[in-house]
Amino acid sequence: MTAIEKKAAVRRKRAANITKRLHGKSIVLVGIMGCGKSTVGRRLAQYLSLPFIDADTEIERAADRSISEIFAEHGEAYFRDGEKRVIARLLQEGPQVLATGGGAFINDDTRHNIKTNGISVWMRAELPIIMARVRKRPTRPLLKTPDPEATMKKLMAEREPIYAQADMTIWSRDVSHEAVMEEILKALEANLPPLQEGAAPAPDTTGPES
Ligand code: S3P
Repeated sequence: MTAIEKKAAVRRKRAANITKRLHGKSIVLVGIMGCGKSTVGRRLAQYLSLPFIDADTEIERAADRSISEIFAEHGEAYFRDGEKRVIARLLQEGPQVLATGGGAFINDDTRHNIKTNGISVWMRAELPIIMARVRKRPTRPLLKTPDPEATMKKLMAEREPIYAQADMTIWSRDVSHEAVMEEILKALEANLPPLQEGAAPAPDTTGPES
């Protein structure tokens, strides 16, 4: 076996161990806009050989409209209702890596559903990193305000205590996607319930035969 093959085998074994420990649940990435849920999520899914689903894309598909159009035509409450229904459906289709929109975990029903049917990971990030990323895609309806940074600060302050209820938290730093994914893999390995199968056999308590 070459060194590359050995590395691939170790990687496969590590991925298989994590996916088994999900017990059919989905990994649900939560956190504020721009924290890297979709970009890192896609990579994580590939690593674990799981499907990657972006909840916002599914909402757009179901409504046959972009998120901006849904907000403009029907308002935020309508969007949240669709988001709740789409995520409830997606959670029945696991295991998968599911990237959610920044407001999804804030909704009580959706959060309870994610807590019951998924393994949630909060991808936490500092304001400057978030602002640098969201400026690259200035389409998000909630940030179409006179001072997007102040809006973001307010949203983060309101939402962070709720994101903190996720099963795990990792820091999404200004490093490669690969490095952030590694943080998630480590968090999963440290926090997922252990496998039952292959556990040490129960000790023999029958004593020596007389
Ligand atoms: C939102 C985040 C967006 C999208 C919508 C609302 C929010 O998703 O769902 O614009 O409330 O934070 P991303 O977090 O993927 O940008």
